[in-house]
This record gives sequence, structure tokens and C-alpha cells, in this order.
Amino acid sequence: MSDKLFSPSKEFSRKARISQMERYWEIYNRSIKNPEAFWGEVAKRINWVKKWDKVREYDFVEAKIKWFEGGTLNASFNCLDRHVEAGFGDQIALIWEGNDPSKSTTFTYAQLLEKVQKFSNVLKNLGVKKGDRVCLYMQMIPELPIAMLSCARIGAIHSVVFGAFSADSLRERINDSTCKILITQDTGVRGIKNDIPMKANADKATAKTPSIKHVVVVKRTGEIVNFEENRDIWWHDEMEKAEPKCEPEIMGAEDPLFILYTSGSTGKPKGVLHTTGGYLVYTSYTHEMVFDYHENDIYWCTADIGWITGHSYIVYGPMANRAVTVMFEGVPNYPDYGRFWEIVDKHKVNIFYTAPTALRALMKEGDDWVNRNNLSTLRLLGTVGEPIKEPEWLWYYNKIGKSKCPVVDTWWQTETGGILITPLPGSTPLKPGSATLPFFGIEPVLLSEDGKEIDGNNVSGFLAIKAPWPGIMRTLYGDHKRFRNTYFSQCPGYYFTGDGASRDEDGYYWITGRVDDVLNVSGHRIGTAEIEGGIGKANGVAEAAVVAYPHDIKGQGIYAFVTLMTGVQPDEAIRRGILEMVTKEIGPHAKPDKIQFTPALPKTRSGKIMRRILRKISENDIEHLGDTSTLADPSIIDALVDGRI
Ligand code: PRX
Repeated sequence: MSDKLFSPSKEFSRKARISQMERYWEIYNRSIKNPEAFWGEVAKRINWVKKWDKVREYDFVEAKIKWFEGGTLNASFNCLDRHVEAGFGDQIALIWEGNDPSKSTTFTYAQLLEKVQKFSNVLKNLGVKKGDRVCLYMQMIPELPIAMLSCARIGAIHSVVFGAFSADSLRERINDSTCKILITQDTGVRGIKNDIPMKANADKATAKTPSIKHVVVVKRTGEIVNFEENRDIWWHDEMEKAEPKCEPEIMGAEDPLFILYTSGSTGKPKGVLHTTGGYLVYTSYTHEMVFDYHENDIYWCTADIGWITGHSYIVYGPMANRAVTVMFEGVPNYPDYGRFWEIVDKHKVNIFYTAPTALRALMKEGDDWVNRNNLSTLRLLGTVGEPIKEPEWLWYYNKIGKSKCPVVDTWWQTETGGILITPLPGSTPLKPGSATLPFFGIEPVLLSEDGKEIDGNNVSGFLAIKAPWPGIMRTLYGDHKRFRNTYFSQCPGYYFTGDGASRDEDGYYWITGRVDDVLNVSGHRIGTAEIEGGIGKANGVAEAAVVAYPHDIKGQGIYAFVTLMTGVQPDEAIRRGILEMVTKEIGPHAKPDKIQFTPALPKTRSGKIMRRILRKISENDIEHLGDTSTLADPSIIDALVDGRI
């Protein structure tokens, strides 16, 4: 923990929406004392066709949550039509920067609206109706947000599947929510990869997805791809034929907006479901306050839209606020390590939001890449996805922000829809590595193992939230029981986050990481059970256990302990087979960094794997293995220690 304190400059605070801590506390206290009045007021920031009857209704024991019930609206109307009707049609909505540095384009709000209306009609022509699920499996191309907003326009529920997921993962997700349409692209380009087989993966996946009626394919690269007559159609062909006008469907506040799959502690991914009204209110409000967004600011969030950060803070939040938002197809190190800073310079970015893993990777390449570019337009920096440590925080603050830009370390989750714990940049004194204080309306608590609230400061425990906020998910698609069990039953009466945290002497929160079997690898969330399932299918493998170990760039690396079938010898082919199987089952981002073959796994007499021991071995911390006497076969420890990688 750092005891350094960084206060916002007078220059920043003077123009900020919240410029003093007194003001923060005043609004915060009001939001907690009377949440209904507070959120009722905030909700006026978006356009409602009909006002709600009741601001909030909830029961955390039954896991029932409703916001703005009775209200009606349309998310795409709020993100597009509203701004065009107010006379801002010519304002730039989206700056798209291609993987190739010579390629970038812009879309005004009017242009986006035109495309969204047409694509909405394409979907309608394909038989998509309100409540139908549409799967989007794409790289970071403009058609992705266009397709999302088109689904929102006609009341279809989008389910975006991150473009690095394998065909098997895609199939599982399509089948879980029985999607009717799949939208993809021919092939993708990202960094040095110029032939990511998106359509080919989609074909493999849809070989066993009976619910898919059509596959819409965007021509991104022009590569020749397999085309199935009657089922597959080109995006551009249909767009040419589509009618230009499509009235937005009037949606209930609690009608689903999207499903986004995330990892939990079992192998089966969870279809987190967000609804329309509360999500839009929450993402637009947090986007404006946390990033201190002002008219004409150029805002860039480097996340992939395949994850929640992209949904909330590239598409819905910024567009509901009529922001200018940058979307980047490539990666931070292509064509070289200066790419991020070159883009900041090129598009005169004012607000920059990224992940600590990217900062670590860039920091180690030295400051030359930074110094080559003019970063003077930057006003505010942000991070998300994992704890940020002091060295990269200081580098970000000093080298990128030139010691004048506040750094907002924002803690939140797929499930929370938007940011929950964060500094407000014009007021909160920053401590490197701390997400600091709760956003308005959020009541974090620390709980002990037995679910009791731990009061006071200088304490740590499980991080939970006491009452709902408008952006919280409403269920897991098709499995409300799992929703209740996962988030509301371990500590009845609270939303259980799955993270551990401490609260320091100033009441600041420091997130220590997951307390369940979920890993955070380069900011990507992956369940150990998913990886173990993948390894288990590889040739010769009997059993696997996966743990995280500290990794310089990725934050957490994946360490797999693997036992082989009797008679099978560990060799390069077996190792390669494991990596290939994990890539096939999940995707390349889930490949283990280290594989240790072992004659057995450390199990208790009841057969439970003692992960604590594996974690210590992966961290090379042999002195602190702890009590091993409950192991069925304590002699396995020597073999595990000897076999360390
Ligand atoms: O462990 C926390 C970590 O990321 C998890 C949520 O992952 P996901 O649902 O993929 O959403 C990531 C983007 C919102 C959390 O349970 N996490 C996220 N932000 C932070 C963080 N850990 C520490 N500090 C953060 N700022």
C-alpha cells in the first residue's frame, strides 16, 4: 500500500463537475439516505417515453431487483435520435482507428443513426422480433456497435461474444441463450495477425446450433470465406436493400437489453443479463461523473467491446451522453510500442481509459515511445480490470499524464454494469493502487467469513454491496437459481462480489482480488474450472488443477498442474496437445503459461484438491505451504516441490 497522496490540480478542479470532497460527501450522503429521490432525479438525464411508476423495488434474499418499473424508453433512441433531433446530427459520435495506422474513419451521430435504422430493418427482415436473441461475434469494427444499437432499437437482446473465443465457446454461448441470428465478419485483423478466421469459427460453431436461422457476414478483409446458400448473407448486400427508416420499439425499463457471458467458479459461463432503463441511467451518469466528461471532449476507452467495459464505456454510456468516442481495432504494440500514444496524439484524445496490464507491457519498453508523441491534450486517465500497482500507477501519472492528469482507478464487474468504487477526478485525493471511495448510491461493506459486517477502518474482508444500484444485472439468463445462489446466498442480504478488499485508515478501498476460483489474466476473466475442463479433454490427461501465479505483465499467469493417464509419459507432444485443446475449447487467452506434470494432485481424504498448496508452489513460496497433514497422501508434496517450473 502506498501512503502517497495526489490531489487534483486547481486547474483540473476548477472546471470539474465535482471539485471538492465536501460536495462529494454531501451528494453521497444524500444518495444513501434517500436513494429513490436521488435516482429519480438522476434518471431524468435520459429520455423516457413514459415516466416510471416506482423508482426501485428489491429483495436481495429472493434476488429480485427492479428499477424504474412502469417507465418506457428505447436505448438506441437515447444514444442516437435524441442527439440528432436536438440538432447535433453533424457531431462526431465515433472515431474508428483501424489496426493499420493509415486507416481511420469517423461517424457522425446522423450517420450512425442512418446505419442503425437500416440494419434494424435488416434484422426485422430476417424475422428478428422483440425479445429474440442475436449473437455478435466480431472484432472491433464499426459494424459491432451498429449491430448492438440496432438490436436495442428493435428490442432484440444482443449477446456479444469476444472475438478471441473459440468456435466451441461460441457454440456454447449461442446454445445457452438460443440465439436466432449470428453476426460475424469474414476474417479479422489484429496486430500482426491478418487472418483471424471469424467466419470459419462461426461455421464450426453453427454446425451444432439449431436455433441459428441466419448468419450475417461483414466484409472486413475481402478474404474468400465459405458461404452457405439460404443461411448466410452479406451485411452490405442487405444494407443496400434495407428501408431507411425504422421506428424505435418502445421498451419497458426492465426489458432485457443484453446478455454478456462471464466466467464463474464452475465450468459453465454465466449469461449476465442487463435491462434497459437502469443500465442506461447508470452507465451514462457514471460516464459523465467519473470521467468528468464535458462537451467535445475526445474520449478513448481501449477495451474490447466483447467485454463489459466496451459495452458500458465505449457504446452505451458515452453515446447516451453525446460523447465523441474512439474505438480501436488493434493492439498496443502494433506496429510498435508507441501505438497508443500515437493515437492519443493523432485524435487529440482528452480522456484515456485502459487496463493496468497494457500499462505494464508498455512501461517496460521505455519512455522513448511516449516522448515521440504530443500527449498535451490528455486531461484525465483511467484504469480498470485489475489492481494497479504503484510503479505502473506512477509511470502512468508522471510519464503519460505529465503529473497533471488525475488517474481514476475504477473498480467494477460485468455483473455491476457500471463503475462502483472510484475516485471522482476533481475532488478525490488519490492513492496509487486504491480505487478509493464508493460512487454515489453505492454502499460497500466488508464481510467476515461468517457474513458479518466488519466495521471501522484498517480492516479487510469480502467485498459486498448492501443495496442495489440501477446498473446491477437482474438475473443469469435462464438460470435465476444460479443467480441467487452465486450472488445472494453466501452472505444473505448482500450482493456478494467475489472480491476481497481492505479499507484503510481514511476509509479508502483497496481491492485485493478474487476470493473464488476465478482468474484475472491480462484483465480477462477466466474460471479455473473452464481451463481445467479444456486441459482434461487433451490426449493422455487424467486430471488437472489450475491456479494463478503473479505475472509481470499479465498480472496473473495460469499455472496448470496435470496428471497423465497411467503409462503416458509427459513430452512435448502432450504439452502441445494441452495448449491446442485449451485454445480449441476456450480461446488462446486461456492457454496456461506453465504446465507442471505431477504423479498426483494434493487431495484431502474426501478427495478435495487443496489449491492453497498448489498456489504456494506456483508462487515458489515453499516455506508457507501450511498444514499438509490433512492430505490423503502427504508424500506428494515432495514431488510437487521438486517438479516446480
Ligand atoms: O476482481 C475484480 C477485477 O475484475 C473483476 C471483474 O471482471 P469483469 O467482470 O471481467 O469486469 C472487468 C471490467 C469491469 C473484479 O471482480 N477488477 C475490476 N476492476 C478492478 C479490479 N480489481 C482491482 N481494481 C480494479 N479497478
